[in-house]
Amino acid sequence: MSDPLLGWFQSHQDQYISGEEISRELSISRTAVWKQINRLRKKGYQFEAVPKLGYRLIGKPTKLDESSIREHLKTSSFGQQMKLLERVDSTQNVALSWALEGAEEGAVVIAEEQGEGRGRRGRAWHSPAGKGIWMSLVLKPRIPLHFTPHLTLLTAVAICRAIKRIVSLPVGIKWPNDLLVDDRKVCGILLESQAEDERLLSVIAGVGISVNLEADDFPEELRQVVTSLRRESGQEVDRAALLAEVLFEWEQLYRLYEEQGFGPIRSLWEAQSITIGRALNVDTPFGQVSGVAQGLDESGALILLDADGCYKKVFSGDVQF
Ligand code: BTN
Repeated sequence: MSDPLLGWFQSHQDQYISGEEISRELSISRTAVWKQINRLRKKGYQFEAVPKLGYRLIGKPTKLDESSIREHLKTSSFGQQMKLLERVDSTQNVALSWALEGAEEGAVVIAEEQGEGRGRRGRAWHSPAGKGIWMSLVLKPRIPLHFTPHLTLLTAVAICRAIKRIVSLPVGIKWPNDLLVDDRKVCGILLESQAEDERLLSVIAGVGISVNLEADDFPEELRQVVTSLRRESGQEVDRAALLAEVLFEWEQLYRLYEEQGFGPIRSLWEAQSITIGRALNVDTPFGQVSGVAQGLDESGALILLDADGCYKKVFSGDVQF
């Protein structure tokens, strides 16, 4: 057993082991014991801690495995080509290389952990091991480059619907593509496009869903603004089932978009939105814009009604409620 502490817990299933015993046995301080337990918690092991009795191992990490994802998968192309990896820098990078080497539309890269997960506007995306869905999908849409915002909005609707099916939480979309429960973020979407002039060659659509993270899995500075499906629902969520449902909803909406354009997607987005009707500020590349959100235009831009009664369109930016 490479991890002596874990080995000990595993050979004493259902028993409490006191911090003092661990400290004596492993010749480490009580603070080091606490750190070791937290290290295992971060890997997905769950411990019950009872004063005077000690720690008891009550749960092990549930790994994503390809066969359980495939058991749930109902798609014809999304996810049919799959790379399931342990640790990567970013699934975006792996998916892009794969796309350049000829991966088909719908190929998906999933990682248990990302060392350099990235978000919009150059932000880092926290992606601890075994607790989330960190994935990137290869798309090769036959649309002009300036239509790519449609795909972002479409993706947000798909994930929202999938989460509602699997966990029944009141999740809603904050424009353009953050998914929130009770105003705290559970999912982010990042689309990166490769284009030649106005011709889109491929899009790498990255999705990060905070599925089974606990409060202390998030960096402290984020804890007030983020949450996970597990924290909101009070139960561990089956990542394989959710991932397959996301791919299914995504493929359905993508086909609908190919057949009927943005119109139906726009209505579905508006139906899942928690943005419309709210007074908000948007930080755009051209400064801050404020107003009450009215809906989307045909390009996916957000329409605001400002205090002077003027309509304004916002094409990109960060929304603050
Ligand atoms: C955001 O809200 O800023 C977007 C976050 C996107 C995170 C996902 S996780 C999988 C994929 N790989 C990355 O490095 N980023 C995306």
